[in-house]
Amino acid sequence: MTVLEAIQKSAEYLAKKGVESPRLQTELLLAHLLKLPRMKLYLNFERTLAPAEVDGLREFIKRRGQREPLQHITGSTSFCGLEIAVNRHALIPRPETELLAELGWNFLSTLNPQPSTALDFGTGTGCIAIALAVKCLSAKVVATDVSPNALALAKQNAGRHNAAERIEFLQSDGFAAFQSEGRVTRVPNSEIETKIRDSCNSSLRKMEFDLIISNPPYIPSAEIATLQPEVRDFDPRAALDGGADGLDFYRKLAAEAKPFLKPGGKIMLEFGDGQADAIRKVFEAEKWIVEAVKEDYSHRARILIAQTNKFSHG
Ligand SMILES: C[S@@+](CC[C@H](N)C(=O)[O-])C[C@H]1O[C@@H](n2cnc3c(N)ncnc32)[C@H](O)[C@@H]1O
Repeated sequence: MTVLEAIQKSAEYLAKKGVESPRLQTELLLAHLLKLPRMKLYLNFERTLAPAEVDGLREFIKRRGQREPLQHITGSTSFCGLEIAVNRHALIPRPETELLAELGWNFLSTLNPQPSTALDFGTGTGCIAIALAVKCLSAKVVATDVSPNALALAKQNAGRHNAAERIEFLQSDGFAAFQSEGRVTRVPNSEIETKIRDSCNSSLRKMEFDLIISNPPYIPSAEIATLQPEVRDFDPRAALDGGADGLDFYRKLAAEAKPFLKPGGKIMLEFGDGQADAIRKVFEAEKWIVEAVKEDYSHRARILIAQTNKFSHG
C-alpha cells in the first residue's frame, strides 16, 4: 500500500467513526509513525509502506477511531512552543490556555528584576507553570493539583524543560495544603511519595504570590455526558467537573485566594464560553477589583484578571 492509499483509506474510516478533520488526523498520525514532518508526506505519496508501518498505522487509526485523542496516541502536544507529554491523568492543554499563560508571564516580567512568585492552581500536565518558568527566568512557581498522577506527569514535563528547579509541586485539594498545620504532600524529584513537612508551619501560612493563575475545571456536571468522546472519555473527570453550574472553583478561589496574594498581586483565571458575567459577579461579591476580562482568539470572553484591594507596593 502506498502512502497516499493508506491516507485515503484511513481518512475514510475515521470519517465513518465521526472523527473531525479525518484526513488531517490521519496525516498527523502517519507523519508521527514515520517520524517525518507532515508536509514531507506530500513528497512521499508514491512510497510503498513496509508491512510493519502498515500495522503501526492500522493500530493508530483503530485507536483514533475509538475516539482516543490524537495527543494520547502520539504522547505529547505543543503548548506555547514547548513539547508537553500527556496521558490520561491530566487534561490535554488547549490552545486557549496559551493566552492565559502569556498574560501570566507578561505580568511577572513587569516585576523584573525582582524575583517573582506564582501559584499555578490545578496544574494538570504542568503546562502553565512550565511556560511561566521558561518564559520568565526570575519567577519561582508553586504548582498544585489534587491528583498525584497529574503531578507526577507535570514534574516529568518540568524536568524535560529544565524548569524543575524553579517549580515546587504540591499535592493539595484547593488551598488545603497551605492552610493545614504545615502538612504538605510534596512530590519529590524522582517518584511520587508523601512527606509530611511539619517544620515550616509559619512559612507556609505566609506563602504569598505575585500571581495566582488557574484554568480550573468549569464544565457544569450535567454537561459532561454531552461532550465529544475525546473529552468525555479521556480527559480526567476531575479536570472537567466544575459542579452543578460549573462555577464551584471560581467561588472557592474568590473566597479563599486573597490571603495568598501579595499587595499588588493579581489572579488570572480561564473560564468557559458564556461564564464571564457570572464569574465577574462572583469576584465582585467577594470585593475583588476586576481589572479586565480578556477574549480568546475567537473573540469569546475567556479570562478574568482581578486584584485585591490590598495596597500595591508600586
Ligand atoms: C482544567 S484542568 C487544567 C490543567 C492545566 N492547568 C491546563 O490548563 O491544561 C484542572 C486541573 O485542576 C485539578 N483539580 C481538580 N480539583 C482540584 C482541587 N480540588 N484542588 C486542586 N486541583 C484540582 C485537576 O486535577 C486538573 O488537573
